Amino acid sequence: RQKRLTPADITALKGNRPVVSLTAYTTPMARLFDEHCDLLLVGDSLGMVLYGLDTTVGVTMEMMIAHGQAVMRGVKRACVIVDMPFGSYQESKEQAFRNAARIMKETGCDGVKLEGGAEMAETVAFLVARGVPVFGHVGLMPQQVNTSGGYRSKGHSDAEQDKIRRDAVAIDEAGAFAMVIEGTVEPLAREITGTVRSATIGIGASPACDGQILVSDDMLGLFNDFKPRFVKHFAELAQVISKAAEDYATEVKARSFPGPEHTFQIRPAK
Ligand code: KIV
Ligand code: NA
Repeated sequence: RQKRLTPADITALKGNRPVVSLTAYTTPMARLFDEHCDLLLVGDSLGMVLYGLDTTVGVTMEMMIAHGQAVMRGVKRACVIVDMPFGSYQESKEQAFRNAARIMKETGCDGVKLEGGAEMAETVAFLVARGVPVFGHVGLMPQQVNTSGGYRSKGHSDAEQDKIRRDAVAIDEAGAFAMVIEGTVEPLAREITGTVRSATIGIGASPACDGQILVSDDMLGLFNDFKPRFVKHFAELAQVISKAAEDYATEVKARSFPGPEHTFQIRPAK
């Protein structure tokens, strides 16, 4: 079996070339992304893009593990990181370790991601010291949507910049191999990238980051409930799928599908 990129390999790309990452939730998509991406994130965004939840707060350990297993079945080369869902790590570093270990044992993934800055630094250090590679996540943190006042971009005030700068440095010093910087103004993302040892992976955080990530359903034009400024559609799959369903419905109603080539007749006896 071909060896997958490790979290250390991802950190080592910093300063060499941009880290290419996407979210993945299923085996067929993981197969398609694997040869083009260094890192696949089984993001808790799956709550919104696959399950129709309004936020990521309702995502469970069971959902993350089932999709982590599915993605692992499709991957040969990419490093695979699974998001820890809301409520699975914030209570204590012991709770975080128990759930991170469960995710790694049951999926075979390469590490976990958790949201948070200074307040999570002790937890990040605890996990890393015990064998769990940690991908951090600072700036806009979707699991905190209910206390942070929505999905607005971050770093417009000095106070907000100071907080995000401290958060990034804290989880870098705690040993995170990489960190997502989400929805954050360019000068700050650039400064953090130049300061920390971890690889910074931007989503709405400018081209200055060490790599980029997008929610795959967003970049494929599959999830169109809303389109943040930082999303680019590299395809319009919603239109492709809708057209396919429309054509199927037309042909079924006209009895032109199935055709003779899709239909079984009795085989002549030998
Ligand atoms: O859940 C997710 O997809 C994420 C990415 C947006 C970084 O956390
Ligand atoms: Na996430």
